[in-house]
Amino acid sequence: MNELEMKQFRQAEHDIDPIFLNRWSPRSYLEKEVPEEVLMRVFEAARWAPSAMNMQPWRFVIARTEEDREKFHSFILEGNIRWCDKAPVLAVLISDKEDRVHAFDSGAAWGFLSLQAAKVGLATHAMGGFDKEKAREVLNIPENFDLQVVIAIGYQGEIEGLPADLQSREKPSERRPLKETIFEGQFK
Ligand SMILES: Cc1cc2nc3c(=O)[nH]c(=O)nc-3n(C[C@H](O)[C@H](O)[C@H](O)COP(=O)(O)O)c2cc1C
Repeated sequence: MNELEMKQFRQAEHDIDPIFLNRWSPRSYLEKEVPEEVLMRVFEAARWAPSAMNMQPWRFVIARTEEDREKFHSFILEGNIRWCDKAPVLAVLISDKEDRVHAFDSGAAWGFLSLQAAKVGLATHAMGGFDKEKAREVLNIPENFDLQVVIAIGYQGEIEGLPADLQSREKPSERRPLKETIFEGQFK
């Protein structure tokens, strides 16, 4: 989607880098491999996220082969599987509980990752809809890590590739006005 097309869906109230509007979470993916060096640029961006005491609590378990992706498909819930099964890369973001604010910090890593992905022409879509305990077991994730989200990464596909009910939802979402988010002096 070019900038003009995006303007039909999203308009910033103030001047920001276009990448913030251009990143969104589509559900249609092409069955097309992501080159190693492109994918690593995405995780490199996550690496530079800030964290409390620079603890960098985030880790990613990634799946690219058919065999590994099938493992992920076994714990992703049906509502998500029906669109993310074509995504060439799936990653689960886990966070080390030793960092008191591990969830907050790993959210920053996801934010950096998703923006860098948009920058290199990749789509991303985070999912909370997966069976965390099953994922822990299947991927051998120790108890000192929390499982946050599964992230689909890949090149955006044609809308026609989606089930009919998801086609109408396949567009960038809006945001509430900034004035409803910022409170001057005290919460109102
Ligand atoms: C923590 C988290 C969990 C999410 N879980 C799901 C999910 O299970 N399924 C889904 O389709 N989208 C999921 N989403 C995507 C959000 O619905 C989406 O980011 C939000 O509607 C804003 O749209 P945008 O990312 O296109 O700007 C999740 C996003 C986040 C950050």
